[in-house]
Amino acid sequence: MTVKITYHGHSSFTIESDGHTLLIDPFFTGNPLAKISADQARADFILLSHGHGDHVGDTVAIAKRTGALVICNYEISGWLGQQGVSKIHPLHIGGGNQFPFGRCKMTIAHHGSGLPDGSYGGNPAGFLLKLHNGKTLYFSGDTALTYDMKWLADEGVDMAILCVGDNFTMGPDDALKAIKLIEPREVIPCHFGTWPYIDIDVEDFQARCHTATAARCILLHAEESHVL
Ligand code: NI
Ligand code: MN
Repeated sequence: MTVKITYHGHSSFTIESDGHTLLIDPFFTGNPLAKISADQARADFILLSHGHGDHVGDTVAIAKRTGALVICNYEISGWLGQQGVSKIHPLHIGGGNQFPFGRCKMTIAHHGSGLPDGSYGGNPAGFLLKLHNGKTLYFSGDTALTYDMKWLADEGVDMAILCVGDNFTMGPDDALKAIKLIEPREVIPCHFGTWPYIDIDVEDFQARCHTATAARCILLHAEESHVL
């Protein structure tokens, strides 16, 4: 059984596994890299890493249209409820839960999480997904390099989706250190190239990844997919 990962640009992904569609940080409206619009996005579950506008994105509209269950931190869950989203599962850092697609655990991220209207968005997070078909995925969210990532090496990560764009998050140097800590089989870089602040040479990052680590680095453009 396969896992299909589709990139929507910036930090937005769709993961299809066992007939379940997970949409991560759905940012279409205002995303310069997006090639589809929010009303074309499908979701059974929406995973939200933190409160910043480039991650919350179109969550409210997509959740209302699709009836997807939104998985996010406790503070953002309250805010989404106020926006009229009814199906929400709050988690918080270090905690996980069993969902129809598998286990989802919130991991540490060092970043901010203020919501677009200035509301408090709790702490930012990443996600560790243990899918029912046996694949393990780590999505870093927006974060600095943290030595806590070393714990992920115990998890047998098949795919790590890592922010690499520098300026607001890990840049290429720190993302390479993260790969050495996590020891994933494969890596997809994200959170780069959306705006001038986070323009990096991602082909150079890929080459350095292949030289310095055992992980295979996969570069996706918007609406391209990779199958695990
Ligand atoms: Ni952010
Ligand atoms: Mn961001």
